Amino acid sequence: MWHLLSLLGLVQLFNSHATAIDVDITNDASVKEAAATIAYGAVKFYTGNNTGDVPGNLPDPYYWWQAGAMFGALLDYWAFTGDDSYNEITYQAMWHQRGDDYDYMPTNQTRALGNDDQGFWALASMSAAELNFQNPPEGEPGWLGLTQAIFNEYVQRWNEASDSCNGGLRWQIYTFNNGYTYKNSISNGCFFNIAARLARFTGNTTYADWATKIFEWQQGVGFINDEWTVRDGAGVAEGANCTEINGALFTYNAGIFLHGAAYMYNFTESDTWKTRVQGMVDSVSKTMFQGGIMWEPPCETTSGSCNNDQRTFKGLLSRWMAATAKLAPFTYDQVMGLLQSTAKAAAQHCVGSPSNFKGHPGTACTFSWFADSTYEETSGVGEQLNAMSVIMTMLVDSAMSPFTSNTGGTSAGHVDGGVSDDSKLDKPREITNADRAGAGILTTLIIGSLLGAVVFLVKD
Ligand SMILES: *[C@@H]1O[C@H](CO)[C@@H](O)[C@H](O)[C@H]1NC(C)=O
Ligand SMILES: *[C@@H]1O[C@H](CO)[C@@H](O)[C@H](O)[C@H]1NC(C)=O
Ligand SMILES: *[C@@H]1O[C@H](CO)[C@@H](O)[C@H](O)[C@H]1NC(C)=O
Ligand SMILES: *[C@@H]1O[C@H](CO)[C@@H](O)[C@H](O)[C@H]1NC(C)=O
Ligand SMILES: *[C@@H]1O[C@H](CO)[C@@H](O)[C@H](O)[C@H]1NC(C)=O
Repeated sequence: MWHLLSLLGLVQLFNSHATAIDVDITNDASVKEAAATIAYGAVKFYTGNNTGDVPGNLPDPYYWWQAGAMFGALLDYWAFTGDDSYNEITYQAMWHQRGDDYDYMPTNQTRALGNDDQGFWALASMSAAELNFQNPPEGEPGWLGLTQAIFNEYVQRWNEASDSCNGGLRWQIYTFNNGYTYKNSISNGCFFNIAARLARFTGNTTYADWATKIFEWQQGVGFINDEWTVRDGAGVAEGANCTEINGALFTYNAGIFLHGAAYMYNFTESDTWKTRVQGMVDSVSKTMFQGGIMWEPPCETTSGSCNNDQRTFKGLLSRWMAATAKLAPFTYDQVMGLLQSTAKAAAQHCVGSPSNFKGHPGTACTFSWFADSTYEETSGVGEQLNAMSVIMTMLVDSAMSPFTSNTGGTSAGHVDGGVSDDSKLDKPREITNADRAGAGILTTLIIGSLLGAVVFLVKD
């Protein structure tokens, strides 16, 4: 049966070439139309606004963090294209998932939550503040306040013990989750990114000091190396102390630090941050592109081995590169050149009509954008958001710039938001299907353990 279905999928894929997305990247109307078509297919996967479903959750097999990433992408979609078609579902989801303590640790997700899972919702709430998105009701903490709460919780979790790498966030928040003994770039990248953006938005230098501290800690342990390349992380159990680095190069790790560094450059206008931004752009161009096309180095092969999580990363790097071009205009030509060639390639790969796709027929995108990549038989949220994101960056010149509280940003703050992690654990909770699927980023990591053995770490 499976073979029959996949055969049908393939036949459909080949039959539908005529309806491929035809985009002229120099024509704004054409880019908007292409982005809208692909966005439509992405949002069709979302069921959280259906009667009886939970706003903010994506259906199986997607995780809670990916929903956060999706709403962040839809906010940027609005900022780049001006199309507000998805603002209502975005508001509904982002407000519903805020959690009792206004910190994106809703009770249903808390026990399975990693720092990065919470972080992807923080990135979205920071974007909502910067874009002057519809504010929550008067008197409630706004998008700024939600982000500040997460910042404060990250500060509490930062651990400077000398046998625990002198600092850094662990991947997981709670000891009972696999991954608690791993410190990684994406968790610290979420912290760095919101610290940099809170600094620029509020002008409060405490945030900037933290951004500098996190970046320099990453360099100190070698998670950012001398070539400005961002590596995945390292274990801290049993004396490992970040010595055995997992050198996998994922696009989102590079992107989250590049983007935060561009904010720090924009805020400080310093040569130090200029050098860091330029170094990271050079590294990204060397490691994350082949023949001018973005790829996911650890897992993008012709047999398609990137997992569900990893298939969401390239869209993030795309959006973060475009924002870098805006905030650090000295990178514009280099960054936009890479995005242009990638956008053209991505559009050529939105030709499918697989059976799990409910968007317009012939517009499902493949994960890989290389010329010879036609191997895929399924579509997904990540694949659609990736293509949508890189194509919409062609509108960077007319896209909204992020506001600050001095230039019209109206989001309400909550400078002392956030509570202790322990205070959450005794709360009663209902077990839901969404819970069973789990909240966490399931990225299968290959971590060299203390003994040099290879351990596959899968969080359940
Ligand atoms: C949910 O939102 C999507 C996208 O806006 C829309 O197509 C769909 O009709 C909505 N469903 C309901 C039940 O409102
Ligand atoms: C938590 O799960 C319950 C039961 O499914 C649901 O009604 C509620 O909306 C969920 N809360 C959040 C914030 O997702
Ligand atoms: C752990 O690593 C840090 C640097 O990453 C180093 O400063 C510290 O001395 C190390 N601690 C131990 C106990 O080896
Ligand atoms: C700046 O941020 C820090 C950290 O949250 C906070 O303690 C301090 O009160 C803030 N300063 C101002 C002037 O808001
Ligand atoms: C900061 O970003 C804005 C766009 O939001 C840009 O116009 C400005 O030139 C940037 N500042 C610097 C120092 O590059």
